Amino acid sequence: MEARRLGPVVGLGTYETFLDDALLAAEVVGAALGAGSTVFDSSPMYGAAEASLGVALQGRRERGVVATKIWAESVAEGRRQYEAQRRFFGRVEIQQVHNLVAWREHLPWLEEERDAGRIDRIGVTHYDAGGLGEFEDAMRSGRFDAVQIPLNPLERECEARILPLAEELGIAVLVMRPLGGARAAHVRREPSEGDLEPLRPFGVETWAQALLKWCLADHRVDLVIPATSRPGRAIENAAAGVGPAFGPDERRLVEQLACA
Ligand SMILES: NC(=O)c1ccc[n+]([C@@H]2O[C@H](COP(=O)([O-])OP(=O)(O)OC[C@H]3O[C@@H](n4cnc5c(N)ncnc54)[C@H](OP(=O)(O)O)[C@@H]3O)[C@@H](O)[C@H]2O)c1
Repeated sequence: MEARRLGPVVGLGTYETFLDDALLAAEVVGAALGAGSTVFDSSPMYGAAEASLGVALQGRRERGVVATKIWAESVAEGRRQYEAQRRFFGRVEIQQVHNLVAWREHLPWLEEERDAGRIDRIGVTHYDAGGLGEFEDAMRSGRFDAVQIPLNPLERECEARILPLAEELGIAVLVMRPLGGARAAHVRREPSEGDLEPLRPFGVETWAQALLKWCLADHRVDLVIPATSRPGRAIENAAAGVGPAFGPDERRLVEQLACA
């Protein structure tokens, strides 16, 4: 994997979509891989999702990049979670400290694992604008290679604070909730066909693709990881990584449609 940049590409999240149905997870992973989405984000926090992803990657692990997390108050619990991640065949490409939990405690042993070649990058995630001060402290420690942040036209707190810092420090950026999350009204409220017309030359056929392209058009964003439980949508979402990037006019249109 190259030093900093990961993308811009579309990956696949697993929160609330990869529960204990490993067969469905395998179908979604197969569809994503076939469509060119190769990065899979999970966490021990997501119940059976990590285990389902492990099963889904059996026989094709080398085709995927695993971005998972440690979500533990203690190093002992974190190491137990890491041990269970052997399901990813002894390798985690992007290992993230979930929601900043005990990040100072976890860094030394995660760095040892990275030095031993079992982890490529160490990242840190946070979902809440309220915790951005500590998030900036973690970034400024100089010990993280990647951050994962929420970003979509209605959730932009990280845009002003985290994206410039990531650029300054050379840290890769993964975007969670690019469609606004499972309960987001603006994903459901599809604009009309006519509203999307100016975006067709950019390869956009659906509102979800417009939202994903909106994120990817920011040059500081490396990877968006929309989650879906539907193989067809994994293909639809992957297609947002293809075709010309949005310019300022297209981004503004998506913002107007999202806020309408
Ligand atoms: N603190 C953290 O570290 C943290 C927090 C939140 C999220 N994350 C990561 O980021 C990933 C993405 O965030 P998220 O899952 O919260 O939100 P999201 O990806 O913005 O939204 C997921 C929702 O969008 C729907 N969806 C997916 N593709 C669609 C399409 N083409 N058209 C219409 N609806 C579509 C899915 O429903 P269907 O299943 O019905 O398609 C699902 O309900 C997570 O899965 C997780 O891996 C990390």
